Amino acid sequence: MSRCRIVSATDPSALELATEVIGNDGLVALPTETVYGLAGSIASPEAISKIFEVKSRPHNHPLIVHIADLEDAETYAEPFGSLARKCAEACWPGPLTMLMRRTSATPPEVVGGLDKVALRIPANEFTRSVIRGLGTAVAAPSANRFGRVSPTTASHVLSDIGDDIDLIIDGGSSLIGLESTIVDFTTSEPTLLRPGGLSIEDLEDVLGCPIASSGVGGERVSGALPAHYQPDATVLLAESAEEYQLIVEELRASGRRFSTLVNEDQLPLLACTLYSQLRAADEHGSEFFVARMPTSTGLGLAIRDRLRKAAGPRPT
Ligand code: TXA
Ligand code: MG
Repeated sequence: MSRCRIVSATDPSALELATEVIGNDGLVALPTETVYGLAGSIASPEAISKIFEVKSRPHNHPLIVHIADLEDAETYAEPFGSLARKCAEACWPGPLTMLMRRTSATPPEVVGGLDKVALRIPANEFTRSVIRGLGTAVAAPSANRFGRVSPTTASHVLSDIGDDIDLIIDGGSSLIGLESTIVDFTTSEPTLLRPGGLSIEDLEDVLGCPIASSGVGGERVSGALPAHYQPDATVLLAESAEEYQLIVEELRASGRRFSTLVNEDQLPLLACTLYSQLRAADEHGSEFFVARMPTSTGLGLAIRDRLRKAAGPRPT
């Protein structure tokens, strides 16, 4: 039996409760506009260590540091250059994570010993109020086990890690449904580390310059590993309607159980239902999940990235 409580973000006691649990070295799953985060205080080595344990995540994989207000950014990171400032002012709060050089206020264990910190101001009002109430930033990776599908509802979190955490705040379904876009601002030109809920087109509009892509990405960005976001069902990808048809016909002919991706032509809707669709395939006991790949423009770039990783080689 899970000892975890689920409390609605609209419950009058929710804010005090979440702040108290995190303030006492506990972990709380908090809603954000991207996905639910597993939040612990960066001032608590115990909470940080628990985050890695609960997620079964390697300790050298850095965590995103979530703050409530722009003026807190330069506590945890070195002063922002003009481009980074422009970006932060235009895109925060929102689905953008900015990689900056860290200060000593960011504990090394939060960032896997690296000299950089990934900072984000989430758009969810409740979650920002918790951070303000604590008076310190929270580390919050997606509230799923390492390598698995991210949670976009409180019940996803409950079924994944409910046995191991203290409290889930139910803020409804995540509005965007894909993790934040991560951009490195420590390089000579801004460099994309992970496509996400903020499109490259929108970012380039804000910056007034192109964003470089990161080549290999680095294996300590878990979203850059070839396999991630994986359901139990084997994910099969099709680039064209013909290829999709062939796969589906073959599965039908061989009597296999499978689910298919829907809404591939409506990117915002697809983004916010993608992870539920992958989870539903497992709930239905499907052996396969067949996806016709969306276009790579707008949110399509991040959706294609997640689907490719969902279809990636299984860890041995
Ligand atoms: O939308 C999001 O970003 C969600 C919500 C909860 O805010 N969080 C999230 O965290 O996706 P996580 O841990 O699942 O993914 C964060 C990614 C990881 O791939 C991690 O390696 C990378 O960001 N990252 C974090 N800090 C970093 C750093 N200092 N240097 C390089 N990569 C970093
Ligand atoms: Mg994650």
